Amino acid sequence: MAAPHISQQDYINNFNARDYLQTSYTPGKGILFAEWIKFATRNLHETFTTGGVRGDTLLDFGTGASIYHLLSACEVFDKIIVSDFLEQNRAEFQKWLNKDPDAFDWTPIIKGVCELEGNREDSEKKAEKLRSKVKQVLKCDALKRNPYDPVIVPPADCLLVCLCLETPCKDMKSYCNVLKNFKDLLKPGGHIIIQSVLNCSLYFVGNKSFSCLSITKDELEQAFKEAGYEIVKLKVVPRSEKIWANVSDHSEYYYIHARKPQKE
Ligand SMILES: C[S@@+](CC[C@H](N)C(=O)[O-])C[C@H]1O[C@@H](n2cnc3c(N)ncnc32)[C@H](O)[C@@H]1O
Repeated sequence: MAAPHISQQDYINNFNARDYLQTSYTPGKGILFAEWIKFATRNLHETFTTGGVRGDTLLDFGTGASIYHLLSACEVFDKIIVSDFLEQNRAEFQKWLNKDPDAFDWTPIIKGVCELEGNREDSEKKAEKLRSKVKQVLKCDALKRNPYDPVIVPPADCLLVCLCLETPCKDMKSYCNVLKNFKDLLKPGGHIIIQSVLNCSLYFVGNKSFSCLSITKDELEQAFKEAGYEIVKLKVVPRSEKIWANVSDHSEYYYIHARKPQKE
């Protein structure tokens, strides 16, 4: 399923925000609805509770129009800044923020996180809490030296990235370079948490295909070391759902938590 690396312009032209949410997160039908959501939300629940990660500001990079990964973070950060490369994704995210009747319905996933937190009745309150913590929706570009250029974002306590960097990066050198640039977005000792997929070369959004940088666990670990982070935890689990193998060819899911050193 290998495909040539997609250009940024093709990405801008062809990525439909609503199709992505529907293809991915529709209950019972979305390719990421079951296994990925369980993996990602459990990891983040642990990170932001027993893992002790908390603070003033969390930067979410490559948010798309998704909210699932911010549901636990909003309990332990005062301020969340979300960001995405595509205008259509930022607009779709704003719909949810503004409670637009046409916004994607995240209720089943919000309920799942409330259950994880032992508070299964409170999905409405949870959504409101997250809305109140999102202070900015910014444009970002992973391939820029300052990914928020021309905006200067003050260094954050935590940078979260889900299912993003394998899209813009064409090789591991580029992935590692992005990690190096990300250090300027973090306070000394700040946390970086990346969750995504391994060995994925291609995924579909509706009927459009998008190339993906296929990476392995060893390459991931090496990139974090080379970029100068201290790895706290690296977890890989195999994909067992095969029914949507023609929508995305990933073989595993990864979670990595690392820290920018206190002193460099
Ligand atoms: C597969 S989607 C993931 C969206 C969301 N994080 C999630 O978990 O559902 C990939 C995301 O990467 C973003 N992206 C693509 N190129 C980018 C770039 N150069 N810089 C930052 N984000 C980019 C896309 O706009 C898109 O939102």
